[in-house]
Order: sequence, then C-alpha cells, then structure tokens
Amino acid sequence: MPAASADSEAEFWLFGYGSLIWKPPPLYDRRIPGYVTGYVRRFWQASQDHRGTPEAPGRVVTLIERSFWETLTDHHDSPDKVWGTAYRIEAAKVAEVREYLDIREINGYTVHYTPFHPSDGSSIIKTLVYIGTPENDQFVGPQHPQKLAEHIHRSFGPSGPNKDYLLSLEEALDNLSSESGDAHVKDLATRVRKLEKQANAVGERAASATAVTNELKKVGSTDEQEEMEK
Ligand code: BEZ
Repeated sequence: MPAASADSEAEFWLFGYGSLIWKPPPLYDRRIPGYVTGYVRRFWQASQDHRGTPEAPGRVVTLIERSFWETLTDHHDSPDKVWGTAYRIEAAKVAEVREYLDIREINGYTVHYTPFHPSDGSSIIKTLVYIGTPENDQFVGPQHPQKLAEHIHRSFGPSGPNKDYLLSLEEALDNLSSESGDAHVKDLATRVRKLEKQANAVGERAASATAVTNELKKVGSTDEQEEMEK
C-alpha cells in the first residue's frame, strides 16, 4: 500500500469534518482519523437540501477561518485542531466520487485544500475540503447556542431530522480519538437532548390528558345511557 502523500497523481484525499465522518463517500480505500488546523467548526451553514428545506432551512457545520472567527463574538471556545476523517479515493474513481460529492454537498459549499494531520503521527496529507465560506448565501454566522439548539431541534429535511445530524456528529467525534470532542457540538447536543426530553414530557402529559378526557366521556355516556333506561 503506498504511503499517505499529497504528491502522487493517483491519490485524491478528502477531509470530512461533518456528515462525512459517519457517512463516508463511496469508493474510498483508506480512512484515517486526524485533524486540520487554522479553522473552527461551527453550525453556521443553512441546509435547504438535507436537514431542512428552502422554506425552513436546518443548520449544518462549516469551517470558519480561525483568524476571521477571532474577530467575532462567539459563545464557545475552540481548540486549534478540528478533528475529522481523511478518505483516499484512487484516481480511477475520482470523477465518480466528485460527482457524488457535488450532488451531496452543494448548497453553498466550495472546494478548498488544507493540510491534514493523521492522528498516528504519519506524514501530513493535502486534502480537499468543502467549506461554506462567509460569502456564500447559506452562511448564517454566530447565533446564541440556545436559539441554535432550538432551531436544530425543530428542523427536518430530506436526509432526516436535523437533530440526528448533530447527535451523530457528536458520537462520531467521540469515537475518533480521546481528544476529538468539540465543545460547540457537545453543548448544542446537550441542549437538544434537554429540548427533546421536554418535548417528550409535554407529549406524554398531552397523551395522558387525552386518555383521561376519553375515559370521562365514556363514563359520561354510560351515565346518560343508565339515566335513559331508568
Ligand atoms: C463534511 O462532512 O466534511 C462535509 C459535508 C458536507 C459539506 C461539507 C463538509
């Protein structure tokens, strides 16, 4: 197996920092956990095509250049490493995979290249990465974490509930390495789980109120019948 390197014409490497971590691209032949630097991962990109709709866009992650992020007011800290997964796609499959990715990842994302550091300490790899930059139409920017969590909690798109994307990302990051957790993702996931619990409790209360009402109606109609038969 050739060493991981950016120099070979035969190699195309893709860095995944969002759904690609748990939903790999087709036809890859190597998958390596690791990180990139100089960026911050944030749920600041609207999703009209996967986790929301054009009428009610959801929220997905993008990478923010750290130097730009430092000029903003944000509620979460961020370490200098953004953890994710690099996938190698051999030359013969590149066109097919790029076509798949363009369909899957479009909606404001553009292609960039960034050095990737494999977690096993092996050589740095040049990776292609999809980024929704602040200039793209779907870029939302900073938002209060509770508002953002509520937005994610209620959003839904063709790929499923927005909250599933968030919770899958949290789990996938926890499984990459002991240091790959992300405070922004963790805090949003914690808030969304709390919202979910509250929604379930409200649902259960409504269901038991309906059951009591139905029971009372039954009792009432039996009484009426008994009244009439007397
Ligand atoms: C990712 O998983 O890295 C990703 C997915 C969609 C758009 C951009 C990035």
